[in-house]
Amino acid sequence: MTQDLFGEQPPEQTVEPLVDGAVVLRQFALPNAESLMADIETVTSEAPFRHMKTPGGHAMSAAMSCCGDLGWVTDRRGYRYQAEDPESGRPWPAMPAAFRELARSAAETAGFEGFEPDACLINRYQPGAKMGLHQDKDEQDFTQPIVSVSLGLPMVFQFGGLKRSERPIRVPLAHGDVVVWGGPARMRYHGVLTLKAGEHPLTGGYRYNLTFRRAR
Ligand code: SIN
Ligand code: FE2
Repeated sequence: MTQDLFGEQPPEQTVEPLVDGAVVLRQFALPNAESLMADIETVTSEAPFRHMKTPGGHAMSAAMSCCGDLGWVTDRRGYRYQAEDPESGRPWPAMPAAFRELARSAAETAGFEGFEPDACLINRYQPGAKMGLHQDKDEQDFTQPIVSVSLGLPMVFQFGGLKRSERPIRVPLAHGDVVVWGGPARMRYHGVLTLKAGEHPLTGGYRYNLTFRRAR
């Protein structure tokens, strides 16, 4: 039997439509998970995880870092993209080639050809961390999609409407899942519910998220 040749079932990659313009690519990043984690280590040794402050002065519960030409930052002055890490004053670490390639191929699989991200936000969630409903709207070109990669502990994604008041659907995300939204779904509200404690063989007590965007 073919199955025995491999010793185990190959991972099942499926495309799960959410709404017009949005899909979950189940396990899409699974084959790359270990090297993605190694790249996260490298990036965050140069630009360490930190809890940025919202304009209102509250610390974000997720720890963040960035790589690429531009990084997303928040502080008392507001939300924006900038080329330098505000902690060091140096440019953000370069986006690893494997990140760019994964984002491009995920976008293409979701129907968005030619995606070339210039910004990657790295979120690290510890138990108790969450991200409230928000729109990704600090980018200049809303024709480009968002590609969002989940690694490690599972978390529940909330995917809402174009108005904050619209009740979001809940989508459980597991290690290796990739969500892509663009076109008519580009400005939908989204967030993640509170991370529950757990232990993952690759990421320990954390969940990581890579969000790829075309900022300029
Ligand atoms: C985000 O919207 O920036 C993060 C979403 C996630 O962690 O899945
Ligand atoms: Fe977002």
